[in-house]
Amino acid sequence: MRRRLALALYYAFTSHIRSSDNPGTIGARLNRLVVKRIFRKCGEAVNIRPRVYFGSGRNVSIGNHSMMGQDSIIGSTAEVVIGNDVMMGPEVLIYTSNHGMEAGIPMRLQPLKSAPVRIGNDVWIGARCIILPGISIGEGAVLAAGAVVTSGVPANAIMGGVPAKVLKYRAKAEPPAEVKGASPAVDGGPCPQSGK
Ligand SMILES: CC(C)(COP(=O)(O)OP(=O)(O)OC[C@H]1O[C@@H](n2cnc3c(N)ncnc32)[C@H](O)[C@@H]1OP(=O)(O)O)[C@@H](O)C(=O)NCCC(=O)NCCS
Repeated sequence: MRRRLALALYYAFTSHIRSSDNPGTIGARLNRLVVKRIFRKCGEAVNIRPRVYFGSGRNVSIGNHSMMGQDSIIGSTAEVVIGNDVMMGPEVLIYTSNHGMEAGIPMRLQPLKSAPVRIGNDVWIGARCIILPGISIGEGAVLAAGAVVTSGVPANAIMGGVPAKVLKYRAKAEPPAEVKGASPAVDGGPCPQSGK
């Protein structure tokens, strides 16, 4: 399937399928088939929840068992690299560009300044987070709901607030047997969306 056809199918059809919420359904499988043709790299068992907007998607890479939250917007002017096992709540905004802001010239006429966003493995991004251009999020980090992330996020940090600061670090624990080797996001349980 050509990428342009895949994009048209995605925005006109598969991104609206209500059942794409549930990764086991035919709708979800069809959606995965389509986004695999769109993204630069697309891992296994990804879960793209309904109505995610990612422009052309050509700068987006997403790893195995990772998801994009319902109604999220993923920037498209520079690379967005999402690792493996990443969970994302609804309405997350990931931006990859700023407008030029020099005084004396209307900002709409100034060139965009783009910078990539990188999200490590096993990151949980809470609902309505905003991630700004150029940000790297370390492996195992958690972004609290509503965080505006303006600086790098250390591995295993739990960051929240506006601008986001480290609230604490994840404590070490043995994972319960049932999540070993399985993706919580793909199971659909631990990352509820708005249900719109
Ligand atoms: C980040 C989060 C996981 C922390 O949970 P927790 O470990 O139980 O943390 P606590 O409730 O003990 O809070 C620890 C501190 O962080 C603060 N905090 C918690 N959530 C916050 C948030 N969203 N923004 C800012 N500060 C927050 C608390 O006020 C507390 O501060 P204090 O120590 O000064 O009192 C949780 O608050 C959160 O935001 N979850 C996201 C839920 C979500 O978006 N789900 C969507 C489906 S995937």
